[in-house]
Amino acid sequence: MEQLAVIGNPIEHSKSPEIHHTFAAQTGLDVNYTKILGDLDNFEQQVHDFFAEGGLGLNVTVPFKQRAFDMCDKLSKRAENAGAVNTLMLGKNGELYGDNTDGAGMVRDIVKVLEQPIAGKRILVIGAGGAVRGVLGPLMGQKPEIVTIANRTLAKAEELAVLFNCDYATFDDLKGPFDMIINGSSASLSGELPPLKDELISKNTWVYDMVYSAEPTAFMQWAFARGAEGADGLGMLVGQAAESFFMWLHQRPDQAPVIAKLRAEM
Ligand code: ATR
Repeated sequence: MEQLAVIGNPIEHSKSPEIHHTFAAQTGLDVNYTKILGDLDNFEQQVHDFFAEGGLGLNVTVPFKQRAFDMCDKLSKRAENAGAVNTLMLGKNGELYGDNTDGAGMVRDIVKVLEQPIAGKRILVIGAGGAVRGVLGPLMGQKPEIVTIANRTLAKAEELAVLFNCDYATFDDLKGPFDMIINGSSASLSGELPPLKDELISKNTWVYDMVYSAEPTAFMQWAFARGAEGADGLGMLVGQAAESFFMWLHQRPDQAPVIAKLRAEM
């Protein structure tokens, strides 16, 4: 049986075991996926212990993604770009290898599951924290016409724009409407809305909130009220899990039924 786990703090709420066990059932693999409460003083040792005890793959979540990045011997290009690691495994010579599947998970959800092409689109990305940094590489890889980053603290938007070859602007200076708006700010978590002007959106704009919730987030409500359509980030959660599962077990699970199952339970 393959031993997998997720480590974070808090961890109780994590849906990852359910998601990976559903993937395992789909693909006929024997998997035991557990939750580990990360110890703020002892995280690195917990990671080493997990692999020393025969673990195959470890997901890393809040607040340890940067610490996981720092402790890796080897990193994927996308983890290097993201500056954070959410997927760990051992390399051929026992070295600790870190990957980041968040961006690929989001892009796969948008393009493959929700069938919204990114290529050639004018895209507004809201926020410039860790979540946005994690997705910009895979997003740019889809060849959008342009990605503009808007953030409350402009210097952070500028930093990411330079790193990923995008545009950036203050909320005031933005000119819409955009084809797609992706909300990667954590404003949704506190029920807040970034200062978005009505001219940024039209009924042809498609929106995505990287946060998910049972009720539409403040951002999704703002968009729906202006006739736009879109989705929240439940599919991104399943998408990043599917990418990690593929890294560890080389099988691509079917994401759509897992998203539907989680949605029904919310
Ligand atoms: P995460 O890991 O979720 O990305 P983070 O790195 O703390 O968390 O980044 C949070 C992002 O949400 C930032 O872009 C933050 O804007 P600032 O850089 O100006 O702090 C943005 N954010 C959080 N609350 C917000 C709010 N109420 N309105 C607008 N932006 C907000």
